Amino acid sequence: MIILGIETSCDETALALLEIIKKDSKTYFKVLGDVIHSQVSIHKQYGGVVPMIAKREHAKNLKPLLEKLIYSPITSKKPDIDAIAVTYGPGLEPALWVGIDFAKKLGELWNIPVIPTNHMEGHIVASLVPSEMVHQESFMLHGIQFPAIALLISGGHTELILIENWMKYKIIGQTRDDAVGEAFDKVARLIGLPYPGGPQISKIAKEDRFKRETAEKWNLPRPMMYSKDYDFSFSGLKTAVLYTVNKIDKVVNLEWKEEIAREFEDAVVDVLVYKTNKAVDEFDAKTLIVGGGVIANDKIREALSKLSEEKKINSLFPTSQLSTDNALMIALAGYFNIDNRILDKNFKAIGNLKLAY
Ligand code: KG4
Ligand code: ZN
Repeated sequence: MIILGIETSCDETALALLEIIKKDSKTYFKVLGDVIHSQVSIHKQYGGVVPMIAKREHAKNLKPLLEKLIYSPITSKKPDIDAIAVTYGPGLEPALWVGIDFAKKLGELWNIPVIPTNHMEGHIVASLVPSEMVHQESFMLHGIQFPAIALLISGGHTELILIENWMKYKIIGQTRDDAVGEAFDKVARLIGLPYPGGPQISKIAKEDRFKRETAEKWNLPRPMMYSKDYDFSFSGLKTAVLYTVNKIDKVVNLEWKEEIAREFEDAVVDVLVYKTNKAVDEFDAKTLIVGGGVIANDKIREALSKLSEEKKINSLFPTSQLSTDNALMIALAGYFNIDNRILDKNFKAIGNLKLAY
């Protein structure tokens, strides 16, 4: 079976072809193609993603990307695609609609089903793809020992999810205001770094780590760290950075930027690790899954791997290629849902779609 994945929820237009091969009661996967077009350079000048520009760019890029994908050197002729998995939420609604309309038209043209797929479920299943996965070679997915705790950290989401069995999700905590990635992006803006701020912050924070062993100069808070629930709040942390910048009262020089970036990163790490640790303990988790663009951050990745080592539990993190938005994760999540989803042809884009209610 071959599934075409389509992702247009934010500022990446992505398409992927995933083949699923059943052999000797085992399931193997093969990536037949994976194409992505990032709009970062366009949104950069506005300091963040502009939904209507994202919509226009997706509309412009989907068709040429599809042509590139299905006539790639690997496939050489259009493969027999059995189903299309398309992101229907969460995300920017105008952007989501472009992918959905495109998927529905292709579904009609090729007379194949279209599977509405949850973007966050995509980020979870991305962690099941082994890092040694290379194009043209088939691979098996990592197994999960249940119960598992998934921490999803992206530009739009910060969620702790309890997974008791395959596809059985329960959100146990989430951000009450800004998502982690959003906080990275906003803090970057406050200290004069370009969009997307996450990679920029981690880059300059590294410089400060070479210079100072410990750092508590700016006294940034750890909001909600000790709250009884599993919720997060990052807007207070961002505001604390704003006050810090205002206090400096002059143009923030590079050294201060590095210090603030590092202390901000430390504060985020502390909160994420503390809450994840608490969830692992309470639910006696056997596996820790982390997904979403923010896991590209070395410091966060390192701290969460250390946590799983200390707890002696399995950890599943996506490769850097699959940690940010991509269509392979959508094709994979679509595959998992192909049998149990009611295929309603009139499905809509849902901007604030949840993984579980
Ligand atoms: O999952 P993703 O690609 O898109 C969404 O679904 O939101 O995540 C993008 C987010 C952005 O906020 C970006 O700044 C953040 O991930 N990010 C990082 C790093 N790389 C990307 N945040 C911190 N450190 C990084 N190295
Ligand atoms: Zn995402």
